[in-house]
Amino acid sequence: MLENLEKIKVKFQEELNAINTRDELEKIRVSFLGKKGFVTEELKNLRDLTAEVKKAAGMQLNLLKNEIEQAVVEYQKNLEEKEYLREIEKAEHYDFSIPTTVEVGTLHPITRVQKQIEDIFKTMGFIVEDGIEIQTEYNNFEAVNIPKNHPARDMQDSYYLDNGQLLKTHTSAAQNTIMRKYGAPKLGEPLKVLFPGRCFRNENIDASHDNTFFQLEGMMIGDDISISNLIYFMKVLLSEVFQKDVKVRLRPGFFPFVEPGFELDINCLICGGDGCPTCKQSGWLELLPCGMIHPNVLRMGGIDPDKYTGFAFGLGLTRLAMMKYEIKDIRFFNGGNLKQLKQISK
Ligand code: FA5
Repeated sequence: MLENLEKIKVKFQEELNAINTRDELEKIRVSFLGKKGFVTEELKNLRDLTAEVKKAAGMQLNLLKNEIEQAVVEYQKNLEEKEYLREIEKAEHYDFSIPTTVEVGTLHPITRVQKQIEDIFKTMGFIVEDGIEIQTEYNNFEAVNIPKNHPARDMQDSYYLDNGQLLKTHTSAAQNTIMRKYGAPKLGEPLKVLFPGRCFRNENIDASHDNTFFQLEGMMIGDDISISNLIYFMKVLLSEVFQKDVKVRLRPGFFPFVEPGFELDINCLICGGDGCPTCKQSGWLELLPCGMIHPNVLRMGGIDPDKYTGFAFGLGLTRLAMMKYEIKDIRFFNGGNLKQLKQISK
């Protein structure tokens, strides 16, 4: 047996000297130490030896096994080092003067306006929350005061899933969760939250309606919040985004989750108000519905409407991007024409 061990040792050394890669090393390891490897086979042979010889042979065998294991580890390190050096060698041959053709990505125009608005509101103390896209009927409708069979549900034709949930039709679906998450605000410290998100409605698609579009919702709840707070924040929002005077009009609007409710329309920047397909010839585009949060909605969110009031707004973010970048047709945003999308880079 001792002779065999010597042969195995020599064979191992020879094979080890002939390899260059970690794969080859692994093969050698298996062929010597694996289940059917040379060393393992010798270990099996021990049982045929007398007790005295077995002891001495066993010791030698263990020594050999350790030696091989050790050698494999060392060799592995050695190979890694060599590979690393080879990589460095290669890198030295890169020619950095050759012009690259790598395309640099850009943010989607909607993401860009969204970030801009988030930054404006963050400086005014707003927290930004992420709303989920698959929602329960309760959060999407009931929790914002739209009970079953309420006609307002038809205004937001929904995509339902087999399990009864739906793709959220508006960002207001997150109102209840957010109210419950933060609870009633402390005196003088209103809750100020912004929650942008993608919405889905089974719509007839045209220049200003898509079935997948973005809204950006804002909510402020406290012990002394009034319509003047709402109007102030809407003014800041529009003047910061457009950096110029834009004509808007405020008119009463009905939403079950606000009372009173308003519609803030923007004068169409595509035609300057003369009428075009984007504004359906009306000269105006519905952009920023808003209002004072309905007491029922506060109550369902665990906030006492006798102590607190609040406002909410649901900005049509995709439409805002249309106006900001003077995009005539909403389908541009989800159309996937990267060349055109990239041209909008401010
Ligand atoms: C709502 O979705 C309310 N949740 C908004 C709200 C929030 C009101 C908080 C009061 C308080 P509305 O369905 O009008 O309201 O949609 C809001 C805005 O989203 C619209 O003014 C419009 O700019 C945009 N919008 C609605 N449907 C589409 C669509 N199919 N494609 C593109 N933009 C749309």
